Amino acid sequence: MIVCIGDVLTPDELSKITTMVEVAEFVDGKTTAGWHASLVKHNTQLPKDAPELDNIRKLISAALQRNRLFQMAVRPKRIHPMLISRYQTGMAYGVHTDDALMNSQQQLMRSDVSFTLFLNSPEEYQGGELVIDSTQGEQPYKLEAGAMIVYPSSTLHWVETVTSGVRLAAVSWVQSLIRDPQEREILFDLDTARQALFKQQGKTREFDLLSKTHANLLRKWVEV
Ligand code: NI
Repeated sequence: MIVCIGDVLTPDELSKITTMVEVAEFVDGKTTAGWHASLVKHNTQLPKDAPELDNIRKLISAALQRNRLFQMAVRPKRIHPMLISRYQTGMAYGVHTDDALMNSQQQLMRSDVSFTLFLNSPEEYQGGELVIDSTQGEQPYKLEAGAMIVYPSSTLHWVETVTSGVRLAAVSWVQSLIRDPQEREILFDLDTARQALFKQQGKTREFDLLSKTHANLLRKWVEV
């Protein structure tokens, strides 16, 4: 399941982040890629010890925490510390798949869901689409500033060459409470349907039954 979520960050949060990013020093992005992905990764990112990084991560983490659609679609158990990446003209990230196992603050985690949160406007650069190879073919994504895309970490994906301007994004990986993508989608659909039903008709018997089924499937599939 690929989900695009708009307005994850407010204009105020976006401008705080871009102000911090403008004065920051970026380093070669290869340092945080797996050995095969590093062969095709041509971008820059904020180094681990960048003074701005903590504040940016805190702002984005809080935004993800309050975003109901993100919580419902991803069911995060653990989120890898975000990377802030910058692609200048000529930079790209070729075809790769994300590592299945990652080290997150001295703990191993499994990557189930990857996300890209766009930090600047698509009008500010040419190219730079995130392309995901899905069963529907190769789908390009280039979202508004403050919007994000969540997609299965199991896919092949890449970032097209930026042919002018600068592309700024936050990327990370999530271990989900629901490991199986199909199960995650079933829960997401049921949750969406029962909330819509509640809005239309309030707390009916049908709503209660859907809520019971949702809770019982969650109980069956959750990994805590
Ligand atoms: Ni990737």
